[in-house]
Amino acid sequence: MEQELIEVQETKKKRKEIKMEKEEKTIYDLPGVGAATAEKLIAVGYSDLMSIAVASPAELIEATGMGDALAKKMIAVARSSLEMGFESGEELLKRRERVIRIPTGSKSFDTLIGGGLETGAITECFGEFGSGKTQIGHVLAVKSQAADKDAVAVYIDTENTFRPERIQQLAKGAGLDEEQVLKNIKVARAYNSDHQMLLAEKVEDLIKKQGLNVKLVVIDSLTAHFRAEFIGRGTLADRQQKLNKHMHVLAKLADMYNLAVYVTNQVMAKPDMFFGDPTQAIGGHIVAHASTFRLYLRKGKKGTRVAKLIDSPSMPEGEANFYVDETGVKDVE
Ligand code: GTP
Ligand code: MG
Repeated sequence: MEQELIEVQETKKKRKEIKMEKEEKTIYDLPGVGAATAEKLIAVGYSDLMSIAVASPAELIEATGMGDALAKKMIAVARSSLEMGFESGEELLKRRERVIRIPTGSKSFDTLIGGGLETGAITECFGEFGSGKTQIGHVLAVKSQAADKDAVAVYIDTENTFRPERIQQLAKGAGLDEEQVLKNIKVARAYNSDHQMLLAEKVEDLIKKQGLNVKLVVIDSLTAHFRAEFIGRGTLADRQQKLNKHMHVLAKLADMYNLAVYVTNQVMAKPDMFFGDPTQAIGGHIVAHASTFRLYLRKGKKGTRVAKLIDSPSMPEGEANFYVDETGVKDVE
């Protein structure tokens, strides 16, 4: 009895904390959502009303085992309570004015993505090995500090390819203080997908608790652990759910703290593709939808690299040619 009481109080406290954090309705306000259901929903990435409002009943049923009627009702309530979420175009424009663009060093690359890597958005770079994904991550970690000496870059390294020596070289190339630049890059090695997800969640602590001015989060590679851990079709749904949750955390970070998120992604062969490029990015539509900018990198002539912009909200599709040298990313003359 007493135990029960404590649990009820704990749950209430938890609800209150979640409410305080957002000052808006939470998933606890939905019909039929008790602590257990909420936990299940949160565990697979449905942590706010928006994620429920855009879910399909089948997805919610799969995640929680709830009945069809309840799933439909929850979605309906989530949708109706989000009606107040409209922003005027003017407000949005104001918010867009906060956007900072991190230049890469290549004019054509920057132009392709609207003037540099945008804060408030996720930019995904996918391409084969050696196409330059990691190099661009290093360049951005340095360049994100060019305009603002306090700016901090977070680098979540899953493949052990972060090189501080390379950062020094690039900082020198950009005319920045090598020591200072290294100091303002916070690197963490992620050993598996759960660790990677946890590290992404911890970025908020760096900002809130340590007061760091995080302007860039790099995840290199976004999908390698997920790909290695979830092999075979049976576990594909699990993998996609986890990836979905991970992307959600990243999108929220980008949006709430006006920071840029840069993620790299491998490609896999498309065995059923006979025409065009026979490769596709890992992670399917989950990663594709969550990314605001998607760039496909490939090797070009004479050691150059070609970046192709794929479905962007405001920029036309196009290509940029560049190369990587000791000092950074450069235009092809
Ligand atoms: P994977 O992670 O294997 O999928 O490849 P990636 O797309 O991350 O490739 P990465 O960014 O590591 O690019 C490798 C290429 O960048 C090499 O083939 C080199 O041409 C170039 N590169 C890598 N390191 C350096 C460096 O220190 N200096 C210079 N000048 N070029 C480098
Ligand atoms: Mg790499």
